[in-house]
Amino acid sequence: MAESVTITDNRTGESIEIPIVNDGISAAEWKKLLGNIWFYDPAFTQTASTSSAITEIDGDNGILRYRGYPIEQLAEHSSYLEVAYLLLHGELPTKEQFAKWNHDVTYHTFIHENVRKRFMEGFHYDAHPMGMLVSAVAALSTFYLEAKNIHDEEVREKQIIRLIAKMPTLAACAHRFSVGQPFVYPDNSLDFPSNFLSMMWKVAEPRYDANPALAHALDVLFILHADHEQNCGTAAMRVAGSAHADPYSCTAAAAATLYGPRHGGANEAVIHMLTQIGDITNVDDFMKSVKEGRGRLQGFGHRVYKNYDPRAKIIKQIADEVFEITGKNPLLDIALRLEEVALADEYFVSRKLYPNVDFYSGLIYQAMGFPIEIFTVLFAIPRTAGWLAHWKELLEQDQKIARPRQLYIGPEVRDYVPLEQR
Ligand code: CMC
Repeated sequence: MAESVTITDNRTGESIEIPIVNDGISAAEWKKLLGNIWFYDPAFTQTASTSSAITEIDGDNGILRYRGYPIEQLAEHSSYLEVAYLLLHGELPTKEQFAKWNHDVTYHTFIHENVRKRFMEGFHYDAHPMGMLVSAVAALSTFYLEAKNIHDEEVREKQIIRLIAKMPTLAACAHRFSVGQPFVYPDNSLDFPSNFLSMMWKVAEPRYDANPALAHALDVLFILHADHEQNCGTAAMRVAGSAHADPYSCTAAAAATLYGPRHGGANEAVIHMLTQIGDITNVDDFMKSVKEGRGRLQGFGHRVYKNYDPRAKIIKQIADEVFEITGKNPLLDIALRLEEVALADEYFVSRKLYPNVDFYSGLIYQAMGFPIEIFTVLFAIPRTAGWLAHWKELLEQDQKIARPRQLYIGPEVRDYVPLEQR
């Protein structure tokens, strides 16, 4: 076999030749010779947990494609709802398919009154919106009991539509509650991003018309965040999904991981970092502290990209468009200087650390008036499409339950000692 590896067990002298398929070797083949030898790979740095036809990343060349379409083309020509359809169904929709999809999502944006009254309004006044979102999404499973029927295709599609449609409503609801403002109901005459902005910002006017350029910028950000193959959140979605949990519980699991500052929480952490640096003259000192191991440069580095994150490039362009309307975010100069210093510094260059999607997105959100605490929620809204696409794919693949092995390093067997003798 030309494309293969040969593994020899030096304890027995036995060998096995394993074909390399799609850059990987199959554990099923490995098992034939080495059934009791586990790969030790705690953070899955060398482990492909699945095959997937949804998103392709070439980290060395800074390439990202959804279902084969380059992210740059989708960001320029498509809309988030169209991209969500593409991720979930594998193809761009026809005109008729898109009209139906748009209609179905629009008409599922309302949340049950008890979700708002009993759950959202039950949180403490200073609850973090991301914590509220994670809990509220999980709570939806108690409102749609049929969601458990995950093998019924129609039921599955219904929950997918509900989740994509209700995420912005829950997100805006979390924000309104945290600032003590009344809930704003969805407006079905508005498109997806404009409706979200209306639920966020509407006060007493009969209809809130968002600035179309800002609504478009938000829509592009949603496209960029819609999927990113087997990241931490998607891996959580697939693990929970492999146990056949309902899609609301799985989405809550995925959203919980996104909350972490190493993942989606980084966009919030970037603003805290820039605010703490405070002035462009402090950048060099800050970089020195990062290199000495005192903290990380938030919004930099990526497990897969060892080149400029293509999403960060597009976001930088959007930032200029948004700042023309909102005025420049005063933290931008510090961010640009940080990037300039990092890209010329041996520490960052040798480790191939570049700005990722979170480095500039927070600056745009802040300029658009979003409070820092809601940044990760803004990531979760579009990522729901990606999570659900992977959930659907996993079920179609009929994948076994995810159940890694461990290398046990604890004590040998020992006898219980009664409390009074310890
Ligand atoms: N600042 C300074 N040094 C860094 C950074 C950083 N942001 N990221 C990685 N390094 C260093 C790290 O210390 C290590 O150095 P050494 O080899 O000397 O020990 C080397 O680079 C490799 O880092 P790693 O921790 O092994 O890389 P990883 O693949 O496990 O981590 C990461 C990836 C994204 C968690 C990490 O780069 C990080 O913490 N970045 C900051 C947080 C961030 O921006 N997260 C958003 C990621 S993109 C969107 C998303 O996933 O939600």
